[in-house]
Amino acid sequence: MAPSLIIITVILWVCTLLAVSAEYTRPLPRQTLSILDEDSDPSAPQQVHISVVGLDKMRVTWITKADTPSIVHYGTESGVYTSSNTGSSERYSYLLIYKSGYIHDVVIGPLQPNNLYYYRCGDSNSFQELSFNTPPDQLPINLAVIGDLGQTGWTTTTLQHIESWDHDMLILPGDLSYADYIQPLWDSFGRLVEPLASKRPWMVTEGNHEVEKMPFKSSFEAYNARWKMPFEESGSNSNLYYSFDTAGGAVHVIMLGSYAEYKPGSDQHTWLVSDLNKINRKTTPWVFAIIHAPWYNTNTAHQREGDYMRYAMESLLYKARVDVVFSGHVHAYERFDRVYDNQVDQCGAVHITIGDGGNKEGLAKSYEEPKSNISLFREASFGHGRLEVMNATHAHWSWNRNDDDVAVISDSVWLVSLSSQENQACC
Ligand SMILES: *[C@@H]1O[C@H](CO)[C@@H](O)[C@H](O)[C@H]1NC(C)=O
Ligand SMILES: *[C@@H]1O[C@H](CO)[C@@H](O)[C@H](O)[C@H]1NC(C)=O
Ligand SMILES: [Fe+2]
Repeated sequence: MAPSLIIITVILWVCTLLAVSAEYTRPLPRQTLSILDEDSDPSAPQQVHISVVGLDKMRVTWITKADTPSIVHYGTESGVYTSSNTGSSERYSYLLIYKSGYIHDVVIGPLQPNNLYYYRCGDSNSFQELSFNTPPDQLPINLAVIGDLGQTGWTTTTLQHIESWDHDMLILPGDLSYADYIQPLWDSFGRLVEPLASKRPWMVTEGNHEVEKMPFKSSFEAYNARWKMPFEESGSNSNLYYSFDTAGGAVHVIMLGSYAEYKPGSDQHTWLVSDLNKINRKTTPWVFAIIHAPWYNTNTAHQREGDYMRYAMESLLYKARVDVVFSGHVHAYERFDRVYDNQVDQCGAVHITIGDGGNKEGLAKSYEEPKSNISLFREASFGHGRLEVMNATHAHWSWNRNDDDVAVISDSVWLVSLSSQENQACC
């Protein structure tokens, strides 16, 4: 080889090395945390989380080891509880090796919008006072979106980043605890998320890790008992799919069930048709749908797993002009163009995979090449999503990567509602 060729080869080689080292180095999975039960008092409330019921009520869920009254005292001043309400509790058992604590469920309200409330679960003055913020009754509203959370060191980082943002609600597209049949891990997850989930409503739908199929038992037993969502209020007969309004009805969120029957003729399909028919886009400019297994995905993980659900339901969402479909399952972040039936379509939904909450299985790093041109951004890193619905026409979406321990905005885009004049062709 001529000396000049050798020099050029070495220069190219150094450049390649530099280019590679400039790329963001993916962090390794972090260990599963086990949040121990430190409450010596068996009647002390633990694992408190809240979820919205209608526009002005809140469900409070918590667990006690002892059989205690299901009562919540609350008010707008610390220590001054002007109201209270009672509910019920239930337990479930798993084989002969586990019996859950008493899972309490109390709905409180009506509550003032955009207000700070103080509350206490249970009937003893010695129990801890907690507080939450109610969502606003009009736009703007800030929604945190994060799937496949798990309970590792990365989960903690993601939750810290979400907590540092002034959000009104958290939406979780499935795969919560990764307990995977080990029932005490559901309790550990409940304790891990309590600091955040007792302050802001957490609206969840199920992922594959919630199924926990057991012999002679129905699936989803732990999930349904611990994470009851307002399905009856939306006319659904299953906790596995439901919808709710927020921001005074300006936003409609459809929480679909990737692991419930979805074919035409199924309960979920029939319910979805009627739910979509009720939406009035003049008063509800924004409609979001949440699934677990993505309908569009260029990661090699979980390829085509969402296809059958997409065949069954995509045309319904398309005709209703759903603005965005969020999914999890793939442990990475990906944002698509507006698509319908695998093609760019200006009246289709933007599809976003946000399955990068920080679970024990780690990241899905391998992608299909060449990249399909309907995928606009993809990256396998942990992080979370922020959806700021500003007004009837504009919303801002950003993906915040966990760069080691700092959240950095790594992808962002302005979304224009499909009900707006700007998208006239779709109306
Ligand atoms: C995207 O790719 C498809 C097929 O792979 C092609 O038909 C289409 O023209 C491409 N669109 C753009 C905007 O490049
Ligand atoms: C909606 O918000 C966007 C982004 O902040 C802004 O540009 C637009 O003017 C707002 N529209 C109205 C009607 O206020
Ligand atoms: Fe999953």
